[in-house]
Amino acid sequence: MQALILAGGEGTRLRPLTSTVPKPVVPLVDRPFIAFMLDWLHGHGVDDVVMSCGFMASGVRNVLGDGSGYGIRLRYVEEPTPLGTGGALKFAEPLLDERFLMLNGDVLTDLDLTAQLAQHERTGARGTLALIAVDDPSAYGLVRCADGGRVREFLEKPSPDQIDTNLVNAGAYVLERGVLELIAPGRAVSIERELFPLLVGDGLFGYTADGYWLDIGTPERYLQATFDILDGDVRSSVVDALDASRLSIGSGATIDGRVVGPAFVGPGATIAAGATVAGRCVIGRGVEIGAGAHIDRSVILDGAKIGPRSTVIESIVGPGARIGAHCRIGERVVLGEGVVLGDDNQLAAGARLFPNVSLPDGAIRF
Ligand code: GDD
Ligand code: MG
Repeated sequence: MQALILAGGEGTRLRPLTSTVPKPVVPLVDRPFIAFMLDWLHGHGVDDVVMSCGFMASGVRNVLGDGSGYGIRLRYVEEPTPLGTGGALKFAEPLLDERFLMLNGDVLTDLDLTAQLAQHERTGARGTLALIAVDDPSAYGLVRCADGGRVREFLEKPSPDQIDTNLVNAGAYVLERGVLELIAPGRAVSIERELFPLLVGDGLFGYTADGYWLDIGTPERYLQATFDILDGDVRSSVVDALDASRLSIGSGATIDGRVVGPAFVGPGATIAAGATVAGRCVIGRGVEIGAGAHIDRSVILDGAKIGPRSTVIESIVGPGARIGAHCRIGERVVLGEGVVLGDDNQLAAGARLFPNVSLPDGAIRF
């Protein structure tokens, strides 16, 4: 089975994490984010993936290579300019099979693609969209269905008065290659705003999925995804690797402080005496947590250093960042790669520092 993954968005809402790496390869727990998607696809019989890249395509290719590490043949197509979700599909046409899956590349899910494919076959659909229930459909594509799953209406980013169902487009489609005839080549096209409305009443079906589903496009949802992976709310190999205390401790890690599970501590990390790591944390490879520091509900990415007696709460610290002593970071702070923060700084309430920003001692009380 073949899958086309759309991975060409700029990931602006995840900056500064996506300032230095493209969204598909932003690290999530122990691997590039998109690896969760590749494992999930592989589990449903996908062995051929076309990755539709725009922004920083070489960054994706450098990390994922030819897919052999995932048991998948992985090829890349690169649009010269962003063509939108439908334009990117049309652009990949020469590589596509008669029937294929298409996925939004920023979704963490374990929904049952095998059942979706079975429904697609049974109904003889031209396109079958996975639908998922959410509390607030306004940021998604709202899908109204009739009995039997036929789509009656597709409304991208509905206004409040248009919301009369909580079922939205999960960004996982089964498509017949024939639908590509409806897309004009060489221009930007939105599959949601242009192609799906054309297919309403003409072979477009919804498959109501259950299971875990999250669009990881914002720092809040990135942290939520981290917690849910550690809790095992989404099926993945991470949770299988946790020990009886729900910890995964990498080789060569030194833990003199206290780590409360579930937590993931990467190889070579050090957690000094008197430090605590709790509330579901990821401590990356080679990270140093200083004496008496307190890390709660946070992700500290590879090679970062947290100084003695500093506190990090519900925040993300980018790779190689250096936080001095006695700082307070949180909640919902995101520090980019290589940020340097002197001693006695305080950052709060959604502050974001871009890569390599450097602040001296006592520079900020926010
Ligand atoms: N190759 C390529 N080219 N990929 C693109 C482009 C492009 O021009 N534009 C967006 N993408 C990719 C993004 O990287 C992402 O993986 C996917 O297409 C969807 O784009 P988003 O920008 O994340 O859209 P959204 O989250 O606002 O809405 C979409 O996803 C929702 C589910 O998360 C829509 O499909 C909604 O209908 C859906 O509910
Ligand atoms: Mg999205």
